[in-house]
Amino acid sequence: MSVAIVGATGAVGREMIDVLVQRGFPYTELKLLASKRSAGMEIELPGATDNRASTAAGTRRLTVDELTPESLRGVDIALFSAGGAVSKQYAPIAIEHGCIVIDNSSAFRMTEGVPLVVPEVNPEAIGTWERGTGAVIANPNCSTIIALLAVAPLHRAVGVSRVVVSTYQSASGGGAAYMNELLQQTQEYIDNKPYTTDVTGRQYVFNVFSHNSAVGPNGYNDEELKLERETHKILDDDSVKITATCVRVPVLRAHSESINLTFAGSCTEDEAREILRKAPGVEIVDDRAGNKFPEPIHASGKDDVLVGRIRADHSQPAGKGLNLFVAGDQLRKGAALNAVQIAELLIQQQPRTLIARKSSQAARV
Ligand code: A2P
Repeated sequence: MSVAIVGATGAVGREMIDVLVQRGFPYTELKLLASKRSAGMEIELPGATDNRASTAAGTRRLTVDELTPESLRGVDIALFSAGGAVSKQYAPIAIEHGCIVIDNSSAFRMTEGVPLVVPEVNPEAIGTWERGTGAVIANPNCSTIIALLAVAPLHRAVGVSRVVVSTYQSASGGGAAYMNELLQQTQEYIDNKPYTTDVTGRQYVFNVFSHNSAVGPNGYNDEELKLERETHKILDDDSVKITATCVRVPVLRAHSESINLTFAGSCTEDEAREILRKAPGVEIVDDRAGNKFPEPIHASGKDDVLVGRIRADHSQPAGKGLNLFVAGDQLRKGAALNAVQIAELLIQQQPRTLIARKSSQAARV
């Protein structure tokens, strides 16, 4: 099976390489694709827990190729993380080649007929697949994925009627250049030099600012609207009221979120704790005596989303409201891991063949 990573030199792309290898994803060929600038660059594969993947590829170092229409020929699954413009241009070409695109950009997330999938929440949304026809499956926004790992199990159990969420988002959401500028500014602070602001456009180190996506006429930025719309699509329930405030904090690679829930049914704090304890992809970190709760630094590099500060909302009637604080690795569960899990779902469905969405169901993009 041929797997390609489009945007392999980026922050998410590099994490995709790590996750594929570490989870022993059964590829026979791994193509690393990026812009012309990166063609010829060599990327080392990480130490694999399951060695099949790297030995199957026959090397521990892979060379990056330029993304061209031809480069996608013969690829079975392509993980795209090179931004919306690249997805819009190249996903249709990949599909023409019979490839399944798992797209990390927002280009097709809200497109009718394109599945938007968090494997722990709505695995059924990928539909039925068979060999022969390409299609696109969208990977949700990182903040949406991280919030839903905690919110969806509660919604399924007792019904959530309203979500108020405030995010504390890391630099990694802005890509490798964004992370590098945060590090550079940190050094410039120590050296008492003027800050480089080419990428972030401001002092980022020791600062907090409203998310860098475009702000619409209603005052909401794109990230806040994505959280709202994508949650409705993933839960397949537009009745849940959602309002978000999205903010960047000077953290490298894990997002945190404060989440306030109103329940349609009734759910005590203890019941919520029990539901979350059983929720896949969730680790409870809720030590009141020790004041130990989810922190982005502890979520970094982890697959699970940390959930804590689980407490009844005292401003609501008993059983009607709950507060949570979550932290999840933006590069991993927020992007690369979720994409690879979608690919694993496809493989599980049809372990022997690959696997394209039935042409009658294929989304045209
Ligand atoms: P490159 O490193 O060659 O610019 P990030 O989100 O961390 O900024 O990463 C973006 C990724 O998308 C990088 O791998 C980048 O490659 C890739 N990319 C950006 N523009 C293009 C393009 N026009 N064609 C192919 N890959 C692109």
